[in-house]
Amino acid sequence: MDVMETLLTRRSVRAYRDDPVPDEVLDKILEAGTYAPTGMGEQSPIIVAITDRATRDALSRLNAEIMGADSDPFYGAPAVLVVLARKDRPTHVYDGSLVMGNLMNAAHGLGIASCWIHRAKEEFERPEGRAILEGLGIDPDAYEGIGHCILGYADGPEPAAKPRKEGYVYRIA
Ligand SMILES: Cc1cc2nc3c(=O)[nH]c(=O)nc-3n(C[C@H](O)[C@H](O)[C@H](O)COP(=O)(O)O)c2cc1C
Repeated sequence: MDVMETLLTRRSVRAYRDDPVPDEVLDKILEAGTYAPTGMGEQSPIIVAITDRATRDALSRLNAEIMGADSDPFYGAPAVLVVLARKDRPTHVYDGSLVMGNLMNAAHGLGIASCWIHRAKEEFERPEGRAILEGLGIDPDAYEGIGHCILGYADGPEPAAKPRKEGYVYRIA
């Protein structure tokens, strides 16, 4: 798929099959994430790639609790890439958001469906989220959760894009 086709046809997918994302594909998606531009090239973000079912399910429950729902906010996706970024970098939210974009677009280019799932900030301020980071030797006070990029194979057809709004682009030529 060429770059324009990838960017114009990626959609948020909200139904997934159980099949895991192959490791070699996951590695490529992760690599694309690490090549996102960052303020002053400081690479403030980190990515925590979760394919372990118990951890994925625990995070899903925590996310649902924050949302005040009891559904699976990860829509059955078998892989969850959590992007966090160092709070001491003034551009950390922008940096992490660009990583999220790279992850979703790379996934689509490689035939994997994705969606940005919110509430990572609140999740990693809670004891359960902090414990996941501590288990990886990451200081939970140093990082802010930016988003989850859920990944998997779409269960059903992918949605169509909404028409782009009028007045999205202003040109000064
Ligand atoms: C910052 C951000 C947070 C989002 N949070 C969620 C979410 O929690 N759950 C969800 O289903 N989709 C979430 N989305 C996906 C958007 O709803 C989706 O991108 C939007 O509807 C446009 O659809 P498209 O991605 O297919 O173009 C989020 C997207 C962004 C950029």
